Order: sequence, then structure tokens, then C-alpha cells
Amino acid sequence: MSAELYRTTRPGLLRLGDEGQTVQVAGWVHNRRDHGGIAFLDLRDATGLLQVVVDPEAGVASADVLSGLRREYVISVVGVIAARGADHANTELGTGEIELVATELRVLSAAEALPFQLDDRVEVDESLRLQYRYLDLRRPAMAANLQARSKAIRAMRRVLDDQDFLEVETPTLVASTPEGARDVLVPSRLRQGHFYALPQSPQLFKQLLMISGVDRYYQVARCYRDEDFRADRQIEFTQLDLEGAFWGQEDVLQTLEEIAVAVVSDLRGIELARPFPRLTWQEAMDRYGTDKPDIRFGMEVQDLSAVFAETEFKAFAGVLGRGGTVRGINAGEQGLARAGLDGLVDRALSLGAKGLVWMVVEDDGALRSPVAKFLNDAEKAALIGELDASPGDLLLIVADEFKVVSKVLGALRLDMGQPEGHEELAFLMVTDFPVFEVADDGALVAMHHPFTAPEDIDEMVANPQAAVSRAYDVVLNGSELGSGSVRIHDPDTQAKVFAALGISEEDATRRFGWFMDALRYGTPPHAGFAYGIDRMVSILQGLPNIREVIPFPKTQTGSDPLTGSPSRVEDAQLAEIGIAVAPEVVASWAEDGE
Ligand code: AMO
Ligand code: AMP
Repeated sequence: MSAELYRTTRPGLLRLGDEGQTVQVAGWVHNRRDHGGIAFLDLRDATGLLQVVVDPEAGVASADVLSGLRREYVISVVGVIAARGADHANTELGTGEIELVATELRVLSAAEALPFQLDDRVEVDESLRLQYRYLDLRRPAMAANLQARSKAIRAMRRVLDDQDFLEVETPTLVASTPEGARDVLVPSRLRQGHFYALPQSPQLFKQLLMISGVDRYYQVARCYRDEDFRADRQIEFTQLDLEGAFWGQEDVLQTLEEIAVAVVSDLRGIELARPFPRLTWQEAMDRYGTDKPDIRFGMEVQDLSAVFAETEFKAFAGVLGRGGTVRGINAGEQGLARAGLDGLVDRALSLGAKGLVWMVVEDDGALRSPVAKFLNDAEKAALIGELDASPGDLLLIVADEFKVVSKVLGALRLDMGQPEGHEELAFLMVTDFPVFEVADDGALVAMHHPFTAPEDIDEMVANPQAAVSRAYDVVLNGSELGSGSVRIHDPDTQAKVFAALGISEEDATRRFGWFMDALRYGTPPHAGFAYGIDRMVSILQGLPNIREVIPFPKTQTGSDPLTGSPSRVEDAQLAEIGIAVAPEVVASWAEDGE
């Protein structure tokens, strides 16, 4: 065996029909079984598994080497392919009908006993998986996730390259911009006390590229947002970011469909039907209580305000009198006992509802509910009609302002109707988002970002809260996959949006003067979008958590157990950048035993 030659082929590629060939393969010992003095090794690399048969009597390697071979040793084996015979075939493996009868075996690298088993069927604590991510990634399911991610990005690039998009890189050390999340800051050494921000997205740079004369731009862009971690959020994540000059909403949506179709075809072998369904934001909120509806099932929200317009039931009458709304869903046959129904009430309260009315339709059509006695026959009949209710159905009703009702019913709908084991991919475009939303402190904030064009700027100035924007989202199975908008391309409109957001002219000039200036030098109308690549790949892989498709993610608390980031740094390093850690923070380290 030549010292530098490790392999002539790959273990997972060999098939029945290759019998008699002499080959050399290399990889990891996935498993070892000993039978009647013969060792059976499953040799693994990224192509798959191959059974290797080692007869210790055959002079394959020294007895010491053979007896020492353990899981995850890296070896190179020369051997002859043999058919296994029907009795011994393993139909679950592509290579299951053959095996490699070893003639020479060499250990390339030894492996210590593993901290956990590399078996997809074994649950391992996530922080341990992340601490040994390089081992975790060897598991076939994780290797498949890496491959799927690469395939998805390849499909995206193919679509955009075919349409002459220019791939342009934008800086990762930027000025802080208002995109809603907290910035990750990087201190400057040369201008002490000054900071770069890592980009929350390349938003303003891609708009500058439009002004620069780039016709169509894209980038697989790393973005940074210091927000609370969730299953679908990381401090650093990746977008497919794109923008087009002389583009309107339709141009963007067409391209977004093409990208989704290509990615789904490559990853799942499914040809998605086009056009994707569309809902305006208002329709989505009215029918599903959310701007990212899962449309794989119905259970739509119904407006019951008219049913209860004259009601004697105080909770509903009071809300309607204050301009609120009464809405409900028919959750179908849930067969819940009283404890289950009480649990739903608690859930509604935790979501911000002031109460939840539940009703179960009895066999005779009567309504069983603690509040049934407050409703008259006409109301009951109208309710059954509006909710299309039949015996056995559970009806859930909430009265409140629109925002609260939507949040509560939208969440209860998902709790009650979540389809299980569904293979279906329900893409949806949501359009016509409001320009602004009211934050908890009463301030207006941009629903998308402040560079999004309002449908009508005069109407926006007159009544900001009612203003509709030219922003759109792509939703997949109830998750927001990406967002975009037609942009503001004239400085006056941009100034009016900043003003509506309560950003003073002085502040706007200080923070975005450079961008407002750029808009003044001939800006083409433009529009764009960003897909969240982590979310797209995780949903297509059927995984609830984006960490599964990020090679080296952070934990829920933002740390990396593998490399120990974030970590303390030497005082000398801090001195060099003119930064000192606050004394109370240093004191807290001692308390935490750091
Ligand atoms: P937006 O802020 O909606 O738009 O982000 C676009 C998409 O990026 C993904 N995403 C995330 N994924 C993982 N972790 C996060 N913390 C995270 N935050 C966002 C989501 C989201 O839909 N510049 C605009 C786009 C544009 O207008 O062109 C932007 O960034 O999938
Ligand atoms: P109350 O009049 O507050 O005792 O409430 C009577 C019933 O109506 C209780 O079952 C409450 O859960 C329900 N309820 C009260 N307020 C609301 C509301 N805003 N929306 C839905 N149900 C409510």
C-alpha cells in the first residue's frame, strides 16, 4: 500500500456489479462486529457505509492493529468486492448487497472513546453535541443537513446567475442602522470610543448598489442581530439577499417563486405549483389571526361581532361598545374534558386575552358552555351558522381589540389544528403590510424597515397608522421565510417616513445623511427581498430548529461550547482599544466564580 494513496474510490458508491474489483477505500470505522473470529467493520465516509470483512488470518494487518481498531478510527483498506448473497444482504444500505474483503488495512488516525454515540437514533444533550460539533456533524442526519444547505444555496445561485444577477459582497463592519434589533458592536482601535456595527442585513448597501448602477444584485449574506434566541433565531444567520433596479413588486415575487421552486425541486424532488397563493396582510390577519399563516389546514377565524351586536352578555357587549371585536374559531372535535378546556382558558389568558369563551355543540345542537345562559336563541343559532358548527365541535371565542383577538385566536388555532407528519409545503405570499405598527410604549415603529415605500405618501402623512406599504413576505408552513419591499427612492418621501417615526430631521441627517445624500444623485426605483436561508433549509429538512442546519450554531444563551465564545479577553487587548469592563461587571464575575 503506497503511503500517499488513501483511496481509489468511495465506500458508499460501490454496488452489486462491482464484484471482483480490487479497490482502496478510506474512512471512519462506524461500527465493528466480531463473528467467529472475523471482524466486520462498517466503513463510513460522506458517501455512505460499506461493510469490510477482515480475516485476522489473512495477513491484512498485524494482530495488534486489528484488535485495537475501534469506532471512529480512520483507516484505509485495500480489498476485493464480493457479493454478500441474498441471505446476508442489507436492503437498507445502497451497498447492502456487497462487501469488501480486506487484503491490506492501515490505520491513518486513532480515535479516543467518544463522548456520545454517533447514531441518529440516540438522543444526545444539545450542549454536548455543540461542544463536540465536529463529531455531531459526522452523524449521517447532520451530514445530510450540511449537504441540503449547500444544495439549496447552489439552486439559489443557479436561478440568479441565469438571470444575470451580479453577486456583490458588502462590508461586515458598518455603521449602526435602524432595523429593529439590537446591533452587535465592534470597537474601533484607531478611533477609540467609536464602534462599528455588524450588519443586521445589507439593506442600505444593496440600495447604494442600485444607485451605483448595478441592475440586479444578490449575496449570500451573513447578518447579525443581538436579539433573544428562539428556535428560528440566531445571533448570526444567513440571508439570500437580492435587489433589482427598475423593479416593482411583481418582478420580485416572480423571482422569489422561481427560487423557491428550484430549491424545493433540488431538495425534496417536488415541483411546486405556481403562482403561490397570496393574501394581503389584512386578509391574513382576519382569516388566520397572524401575518404568517399556516394554510395547511382551515379552522379560520370568523368575525362574530355582528352576531353579538345586541348581546346582553356583558363581556362581549363591553368590548364591542369600546370599538373592539368578537371573533372565534371552530376547533372541530377535540373531545376535551373540563381540565383540558380550563387549560385552554389559561393558555388564552397567558397570551393576553381577558377571557376565553368555549362552547361544545351537543348532539341535539344545544351549546354546552358556562356562558350559554347569557346568550339568546337567535345568537346561538347565528353563532352555529357563522362557525359552521356540528355536534361535537369545540367553539372558541375571544372579545378584545383586534390585535389581542388575532394574537390569541391565531395561537389557539395553531395549538388545536397543527397538522402532524404532514409532508405538504404550503408556500404563501403576504402583501400590503401596514407601514407602521404601534409598539408597546405607544411609539410608531416601521413594520418592515423605514426604507419601505408607502402605497401613498400623502395618505401616510395624513393617517400613518392606517397606511399600507409595498412590503411583502414569503411564508412557508406558518413560518416567515423572508421579507422585502419596494423601496423609497426619493429623499422627500424618505424624510417624511423618518418624521412619522419620530426621528428628528437633525437625527436623520446625523444617522442617515449619507444615505439621504445618495438618494439625491439619481436613484432608480428599486425593490428587493431577503430569504432566511437557515429557516428555509430547516423547514425543508423537516426540522423545527435552525440550529440543526447551521454548521456551528450558538446555544440558546448565545454561547459556543466548542470554542468557548464569547470569552473574556486580556486587559492588554482591552487597553489597546480603549475599553474597560465596568467594575460591577468584574465584581459579578467573582460572584459567578469566573
Ligand atoms: P428581515 O429582517 O425580515 O428583512 O429578514 C429577512 C429574513 O431573514 C431571516 N431572519 C433570521 N433568521 C435567523 N435568525 C434571525 N435572528 C433572523 N432574523 C431574520 C428571516 C427573515 O424573514 N433587509 C431586509 C430584507 C429586504 O427588505 O430586502 C431584511 O433583513 O427568514
Ligand atoms: P366575566 O364576566 O369576566 O366573569 O366572564 C364570564 C366569562 O366570559 C368567563 O368564562 C370569561 O372567560 C369570559 N370572558 C370574559 N371576558 C372575555 C373576553 N374579552 N373574551 C372572551 N371571553 C371572555
